[in-house]
Amino acid sequence: MVELAAEKHVRYVLSVEKKKDGFESVVMEHLRMNGAYWGLTTLDLLGKLQVVDQEQVISWLMQCQHESGGFGGNIGHDPHILYTLSAVQVLALFDKIHILDVAKLQNEDGSFSGDIWGEVDTRFSYIAICCLSLLHQLDKIDVEKAVNYIVRCKNLDGGFGCTPGGESHAGQIFCCVGALAITGALHHVDKDLLGWWLCERQVKSGGLNGRPEKLPDVCYSWWVLSSLIMIDRVHWIDKEKLVEFILDCQDLEKGGISDRPDDAVDVFHTYFGVAGLSLLEYPGVKAVDPAYALPVDVVNKILISS
Ligand code: FPP
Ligand code: ZN
Repeated sequence: MVELAAEKHVRYVLSVEKKKDGFESVVMEHLRMNGAYWGLTTLDLLGKLQVVDQEQVISWLMQCQHESGGFGGNIGHDPHILYTLSAVQVLALFDKIHILDVAKLQNEDGSFSGDIWGEVDTRFSYIAICCLSLLHQLDKIDVEKAVNYIVRCKNLDGGFGCTPGGESHAGQIFCCVGALAITGALHHVDKDLLGWWLCERQVKSGGLNGRPEKLPDVCYSWWVLSSLIMIDRVHWIDKEKLVEFILDCQDLEKGGISDRPDDAVDVFHTYFGVAGLSLLEYPGVKAVDPAYALPVDVVNKILISS
């Protein structure tokens, strides 16, 4: 079987960072904060975070913060909750968490908006809860209402969608199950029913898809696997075949991991491939926390401190 080309992936992540305009140049410009989180967490999971100039990253990151406390995707970009979580996660990797306030974005019904324009999505519920938990500030929101809103997004198939009545999707399931795990509310999940839906995501090649009839994709190794672990049903899939699928998506020459075998690599799939292997306890990769999507040692350090 092919092995994980860890050194090459480290070199790939660093080469993307060095390119002019940062991570994956212009296309990634507004996503640079997310790119920083994907790339830096990959390096940490592979035990190579120390090769990065921490001061430089933090100085850039702090220039992306707005007066409201939220972060933009890059310097001069509007703040959004999606980038704010990545900023908090990067600060967590470097043990440099600062006080932020995302509580303002909670709505009357317990849901969360992504920015001042108000779009609602269970992704934003997860992000707010994850951020505030890392900042020890969950008491700033109405957690019970937040949990009730997520429960309203649960479907008859055991999965969760974006908003009440929205189709089940593995990415949204990660968000809802992660938020319920962080708030100690996993009793709201029908574990057998959801576990069944999630393990049906494994296709012949060993890879996982995000919804019925879709193609397998390395990033779903994260969304599906982390959810299965949180509800204690990971033994329902064929782990060895999934490891094989992820390893088959490596670019063994230039480094990096793609969504499917023989496609072009990118930092997003490199991160979720390495994080997926971490959840599968692949040798040489640090353990990642399935709810916080950060290395276990980083999460433990933060949660133990007050
Ligand atoms: C699929 O996206 C994934 C999702 C909908 C979940 C996204 C979750 C977050 C942004 C929360 C933060 C995440 C982490 C790991 C800390 P897609 O657009 O690829 O979906 P598609 O496959 O249906 O196109
Ligand atoms: Zn993908």
